[in-house]
Amino acid sequence: MKNILLAGGAGYIGSHTAVELLESGYDVIIADNYSNSCPEAIKRVEEITGKSVKAYEVDIKDTAKLEKIFMENDIDAVIHFAGLKAVGESTQKPILYYRNNIDTTLSLLECMKKYNVNNIIFSSSATVYGEENPVPYTEEMNRGTCTNPYGWTKVMMEQILEDAAKADDKLSVVLLRYFNPIGAHESGRIGEDPQGIPNNLMPYVSQVAVGRREQLTIFGNDYDTPDGTCRRDYIHVVDLAKGHVKAIEYVLENDGVEVFNLGTGTPYSVTEIVSTFEKVNDIKVNHVYGARRAGDLPESYANADKALSVLGWKTEKNLADMCRDTWNWQKNNPNGYKN
Ligand code: NAD
Ligand code: WQD
Repeated sequence: MKNILLAGGAGYIGSHTAVELLESGYDVIIADNYSNSCPEAIKRVEEITGKSVKAYEVDIKDTAKLEKIFMENDIDAVIHFAGLKAVGESTQKPILYYRNNIDTTLSLLECMKKYNVNNIIFSSSATVYGEENPVPYTEEMNRGTCTNPYGWTKVMMEQILEDAAKADDKLSVVLLRYFNPIGAHESGRIGEDPQGIPNNLMPYVSQVAVGRREQLTIFGNDYDTPDGTCRRDYIHVVDLAKGHVKAIEYVLENDGVEVFNLGTGTPYSVTEIVSTFEKVNDIKVNHVYGARRAGDLPESYANADKALSVLGWKTEKNLADMCRDTWNWQKNNPNGYKN
């Protein structure tokens, strides 16, 4: 049995990945400081899978405390989800973002080196393609210019991981560039539970639908896109989680650095998201059109061919599934995990 350490594993993507790993026969250890999550998510992972998870409450920046986990467990691979991810907040609090996101990465790499753990998967983002690359994005494009500190932390962490692998032949690194994860586990027991006002589209849509927010503002309808609203590559979080299982198989078998886009390759507009959510769930989402949001690109979507050819992974769920499963989670947990 292989032991996989999920740093930040109590969060949205980590909890869904824990379910898929457990169901694929891996043992899962979670290290999280619950700065943007809660232990209840781990309980629900155990409830869904009928398997137990070893959980540590720890700030991953704290190398001494993190080391205890490496001492107590024979870890085969690490998946590094632990990071702050609110783009707007990162422009207000850049130092917090650089400190947290970079230091968690360095602490993990230091402990891995000391305890001879040689496999790491990193949660990167489509944001590293920056402003200048044309869509669809392919993995061999250069990293671009980001519009915010959050994006720069991802660019820097990719570079740190690449440099670490260059200096150490044994180290195997997989950089997964996620596009726009939405949806929830089909059980409706785990899902995205943002603190405060959601920054991202889908949680905002579902909170309007459930009556927690009055209306959605669609940021701009004068873009050079088919309906004037921005287009994104939305991916079901369970498909994304399954991509991590494939990446674990790959990282355990290979050395060096490999980069994969995890997206569907098909963009949808903001208006299409709202209308599909309304249709699939037979519910109204009050919305108005407002000004553009600073830093938004008109379009972002993946070329997802490499993940299919190398990992044998492709998405299985469509936009209707994403909208249905988001609503199933939201209506059964109107206040997230605080029910
Ligand atoms: P999330 O906030 O739900 O999960 C991140 C987890 O990391 C949380 O449980 C949080 O408590 C934990 N964490 C943060 N700092 C920590 C620290 N210092 N020590 C211990 N735990 C810490 O976010 P998510 O959506 O699950 O994203 C997971 C990763 O994927 C993040 O690195 C994020 O930047 C990246 N990512 C997310 C998206 C997205 O749209 N959700 C897209 C691209 C990349
Ligand atoms: C999607 C679309 C908005 C909210 C962000 C990060 C990216 C990655 C994924 C982590 C855009 C529009 C949104 C609202 C709206 N995260 N929108 N009204 O900006 O594509 O990506 O999350 O790595 O790095 O930048 O996602 O969900 O915020 O926005 O009209 O209230 O919805 O303008 O077109 P984005 P998003």
